[in-house]
Amino acid sequence: MEADIDHVLFSREDIARRVSEMASDIARTYHDEEDVGLTLVTILSGSLIFLADLIRELPMRMKIGLITVSSYPGKSTSSQGARVLQELNTDVTGRHVLVVDDILDTGNTLRYVCGQLREAEPASIRTCVLLRKPSKAPPDVQADFVGFDIDDVFVVGYGLDYDDHYRNFPHIGVLHERVYAS
Ligand code: IMP
Ligand code: MG
Repeated sequence: MEADIDHVLFSREDIARRVSEMASDIARTYHDEEDVGLTLVTILSGSLIFLADLIRELPMRMKIGLITVSSYPGKSTSSQGARVLQELNTDVTGRHVLVVDDILDTGNTLRYVCGQLREAEPASIRTCVLLRKPSKAPPDVQADFVGFDIDDVFVVGYGLDYDDHYRNFPHIGVLHERVYAS
């Protein structure tokens, strides 16, 4: 697996530090809204490790909602448009929603998911991504909490995949071009 990683961008220690800082920002933002009810809506599968680490740094009451969206099916390294594989498993009507995704790239995924969520009339919707490719993210899709900005490169590890592999690589690294060129 490691032989397929061109170079590491963020080590597991870098990630842990940043996730902890993000959790502090999030906790501060929701300080007064905790009693209304907070639901973290997680976009699977890429966000599963991020979510697991993030929620253990968040000391408040919350529910977890899961939705499975695929935009990079199989061996794609460019977005093929968001497609829901599994609908959201909880009702968010009247609740504060924080959408958690691994990476904001073209914005198709967040735009689609936030659009769906709005129909349920939640009290608020905010978004949180570990990574963002600012050169591609469109102006109409903003993330309220961002871990790291990165160049337009294809990254894997810490939950992010290529063809469903490399999610268990503990750091975030740039995938070697020969992996998808072959
Ligand atoms: P968007 O819809 O183009 O913003 O892409 C968001 C989704 O595409 C993310 O939730 C990821 O699952 C996937 N994605 C985007 N860029 C990468 C990448 O560099 N590596 C792995 N997955 C990515
Ligand atoms: Mg994803």
